[in-house]
Amino acid sequence: MTIHIGAKPGEIAETVLMPGDPLRAKWAAETFLEGAVCVNEVRGMLGFTGSWKGNRVTIQGSGMGMPSLSIYANELIRDYGAQTLVRIGSCGAMQEAVKLRDLVIAMSCTSMSTPSKGFFKELNFAPCADYGLLAAAAKAAEARALPTHCGNVYSADVFYDERPDLNEQMTRHGVLAVEMEAAELYTVAARFGRRALAVLTVSDHLLTGEALPSADRQTSFGDMVEIALEAAFS
Ligand code: HPA
Repeated sequence: MTIHIGAKPGEIAETVLMPGDPLRAKWAAETFLEGAVCVNEVRGMLGFTGSWKGNRVTIQGSGMGMPSLSIYANELIRDYGAQTLVRIGSCGAMQEAVKLRDLVIAMSCTSMSTPSKGFFKELNFAPCADYGLLAAAAKAAEARALPTHCGNVYSADVFYDERPDLNEQMTRHGVLAVEMEAAELYTVAARFGRRALAVLTVSDHLLTGEALPSADRQTSFGDMVEIALEAAFS
């Protein structure tokens, strides 16, 4: 047990999928895993361990935003020995070519700050995906003919953004989409020499104002879970 995860030693798999929403963790575990058991209920941040095609996997909610994800990523790695961490979540598109429901695989992350900014000081660390996971996820998405974009994402600190002028600069510099967790996941994984990736579905569009109806979110989320699993175990 850790401060935020109630699982007993050995109850967390080496491969962990991390949706932001704990109820998505429950849905994904019930839908895709065999023999899934709930291993964490602390603060309602549900986690489940089961198996997928004979591989042991945990699906643990991360909560929203980098400070929350950071707590879970640190404890999963330091205390439970997680080796591969894949975020599955939603994002807001920042390019015209990126459409609703498209898949965005985060190769690198732009941010104003991460929870690590304090000790990096003057250094601009560039959070970067594990290339093996990224290549495997891109291949899995291609095999399903899902429209997919690999590139830079913006890991924002705030959802209710007061600096839209920065979004313009990011769009101009090719940033694909905005989300709120990947930069910290990649930074923590790098610190401990673990593999990390973020696979995202476009749920809304910053340039057009469109948003995915909630019924469509489940289908897109399902595709993402399967791609994350295929990438993790390829
Ligand atoms: N901003 C931040 N995070 C997000 C968004 C957004 O517009 N859409 C989905 N995740």
